[in-house]
Amino acid sequence: MKVCVVGSGGREHAFVKSLSIDSEVIITPGSAGIEGSTSKPVTEIEADLYVIGPEVPLVNGLADELRSLGCDVFGPGKGGSLLEASKAWMKDLVHAAGVPTASYRSFDQSQAEEAIEFLTTFEPPYVVKTDGLAAGKGVLVTNTYEEAVSDITEKLSGEAFGDAGRRIVIEEGLTGPELSLFALCDGQKAVLIPTSAQDHKRLLDHDRGPNTGGMGCYSPMPNMSDADLEALMDLAVHPTVEELKKRGVDYRGVLFAGFIMTSDGPKLLEYNVRFGDPEAQVILPRFESSLSETLLQVAQGNLVSQPTVSSDAMVTVVLATEGYPLAPRSGDVIHGLDEALAIEGVTVFYAGVESNLQGELITNGGRVLNICGRAATLDEARELAYQAVDLIFWPGMQHRTDIGASIETNTNREVIK
Ligand code: AMP
Ligand code: GLY
Repeated sequence: MKVCVVGSGGREHAFVKSLSIDSEVIITPGSAGIEGSTSKPVTEIEADLYVIGPEVPLVNGLADELRSLGCDVFGPGKGGSLLEASKAWMKDLVHAAGVPTASYRSFDQSQAEEAIEFLTTFEPPYVVKTDGLAAGKGVLVTNTYEEAVSDITEKLSGEAFGDAGRRIVIEEGLTGPELSLFALCDGQKAVLIPTSAQDHKRLLDHDRGPNTGGMGCYSPMPNMSDADLEALMDLAVHPTVEELKKRGVDYRGVLFAGFIMTSDGPKLLEYNVRFGDPEAQVILPRFESSLSETLLQVAQGNLVSQPTVSSDAMVTVVLATEGYPLAPRSGDVIHGLDEALAIEGVTVFYAGVESNLQGELITNGGRVLNICGRAATLDEARELAYQAVDLIFWPGMQHRTDIGASIETNTNREVIK
């Protein structure tokens, strides 16, 4: 099978690697470090299957465009992508589907006063979200009323996030551990990918510092059984797919559901319409069933294979450049990769690299490399990943030292039942 992957980051590199096991893979635009990269536009590439990695092309309708040309595509069209592109649309849909979620209201530019009045009906923590895409940075959770009020004003005025923030959602603040799951949806039904993953979103150890796209991830989460995950599928994902169908949305791709486990039971926080980055880097390599075949079946609207995933543990540590996430610098030569890759059980995905005139790999953007360790246990996997991290260097490189280590708050599974 010939597969074309769209994207250029670590998640897409993980797709390329796993799909290449039994398929010929090309990636656009890819990057200097990723084999099969081409600058040809996707519409000029012939393939049996197109896999769209990031949310922006999905939200912009690339899957619809390719389908109109008769292609098989893994990834929802513009309609289904609204689950991620508009929090207000998503909240209305899951509310109609009877999925437990934080109580909320949405407000537009002309409703700043009503928004502030609505905020006062809640206890802290206060939650203010941009309606549109904001690269994971559009959500404010704060205990300070004044901060929430100024955030409402800044978002609605367009000052903080441009058009993405001119509509906002204000939600009841919930507390509890968070959990994500991934389901494959072929337009008719959703099937669980039977594993769990935990991202570490804050820049610094012990969950301090600013939010980022994700500084590292591990999988599976201890004490989270397939039955626990299936209970969340029944609670949220299956009803969501039924509601999508009612609204005429033929959703073919992955549904990445984020939950918060409150003392009143699990509540859905968000949907993403693509795999997580770096969650994909610790899940896709552990697929035991053929990834190409599974994604093709999804794209063709007939998922018959049950996805199976190895019980091995994987940890990925993100290496980022100085200044990330605010003002990342680029252009530094990356040292030590060959030594790191020589360690058995270590894989490296390229998230933001390019090559210089001398053909050396250099940093390009904030998140640069994903260093992954794979082993029978989480502790061993973490050990391997950090052994490799210690061999890699460029000036200003930053990373967390506690990926997969500070997990005690994430296993509150009783509340699922
Ligand atoms: P979202 O993009 O909607 O998942 O929000 C990003 C992050 O903000 C989540 O992973 C949570 O940590 C936090 N968050 C979102 N909504 C809420 C809420 N209603 N209550 C508490 N924290 C929230
Ligand atoms: N790692 C979180 C995300 O991809 O949204």
